[in-house]
Amino acid sequence: MTEWLLRGVRLADGGRRDLAIKGELLVEAADLGPNRRAVEADGLMALPGLVDLHTHLRQPGGEEAETVASGTRAAARGGYTACFAMANTDPVTDTGEAASHLADLGRREGWAEVRPVGAITKGLAGQELAELGLMHRAGVDLFSDDGRCVQNAQVMRRALEYVKDFGGVLAQHSQDDDLAGPGACCHESAIGGRLGLPPWPPAAESAIVARDIELVRLTGGRLHVCHVSSAESVDLIRWAKARRLPVTAEVTPHHLLLGTVELEGYDTTYKVNPPLRTEEHSEALRQALADGVIDAVATDHAPHTPQDKDHPFDVARPGMIGLEQALAVVLETMVLTGRMDWSGLVERMSAAPARIGRVSDHQGRPLEPGQPANLVLIDPQRRRTVDKATSLSLARNNPYHGRDLPDPVLATFWRGRATYGGDDF
Ligand code: DOR
Ligand code: ZN
Repeated sequence: MTEWLLRGVRLADGGRRDLAIKGELLVEAADLGPNRRAVEADGLMALPGLVDLHTHLRQPGGEEAETVASGTRAAARGGYTACFAMANTDPVTDTGEAASHLADLGRREGWAEVRPVGAITKGLAGQELAELGLMHRAGVDLFSDDGRCVQNAQVMRRALEYVKDFGGVLAQHSQDDDLAGPGACCHESAIGGRLGLPPWPPAAESAIVARDIELVRLTGGRLHVCHVSSAESVDLIRWAKARRLPVTAEVTPHHLLLGTVELEGYDTTYKVNPPLRTEEHSEALRQALADGVIDAVATDHAPHTPQDKDHPFDVARPGMIGLEQALAVVLETMVLTGRMDWSGLVERMSAAPARIGRVSDHQGRPLEPGQPANLVLIDPQRRRTVDKATSLSLARNNPYHGRDLPDPVLATFWRGRATYGGDDF
């Protein structure tokens, strides 16, 4: 395996260091052999590999939209070294066997670590608990019916109690199906009314967040709130954290940068669940991410085929891809605006998701000798107009197409191997 010496690289804390990679580990430069590849990394930065708590890899069953191989290649290009693969595949990841199978596939074909997320309920149907214990034995710590919300409070209560025994986490896609039903697709707003799109009010999210926080108070089970999209949900999560309840939350890059205005052209690329909202909500999310009420950035990378997107807006499938531009968007909205420093970015995109997903023994680690060589080498100055045609994802539902954004990632190393870049950075 190639040994690497990245000379004079800047770290998130502002320090400069030579980073030496040998085998799967970071080592002292003196430990490298004479054939190591040296890179002058002056002006470049290295960050711990990013960890995505919310990736739809679509395999099994949706291989036309994405596979474990293509999705994790996109992840590597985005600077990620680990992805949590959501359970809403076909078949659903709701058994120990399905989880083991996906983990194996990840080991064979992944360009990053693939951690299966287990379903909370069988078939995501919201009725009967899935094989939570068996999935845990197969290595699953994070459970979610994502794509759907667990509507039944009693089912959610039982699931929180169950996973509490082994320290599991329930990641909830918070959406009240009566307030935001199947056709709901646009933030309830003046624009939505004018466009004639069925409304998805913020309360459909925050009502579930409030309910689940009450269930956490009741059970002591651990809750993670997926893709928070509203100021009201932020208020509730702040309230829960002030009471030291075991609640964490994530925000997506698209909810930080994009808004309801994108829907003006009825381009279904911008249809996503929960929907893009107004600047007031995005601003609350950026603030919450800066002050830690929201713990992590997660992509909700949701690849779809053109056939699934090429429909009237209210019928098209919701979801947009995000792995390749997530770091760029967080850089643009949070770091370049001075809201967050580099250490904050590392915490929200690497260390905190690694802790929440229970992989912090080997992911999201500081870049020091003895640690696994999971890292991303970046040029924070580089920019480019995003072109969806060049994506490594199989899908083309890229909401950043045509935007001028940072293009920071030069190379990604996972367990010492260059999973992106390598030859030409
Ligand atoms: O927009 C979304 N797409 N939101 C979800 O919760 C699920 C996802 C998907 O699987 O396509
Ligand atoms: Zn979701």
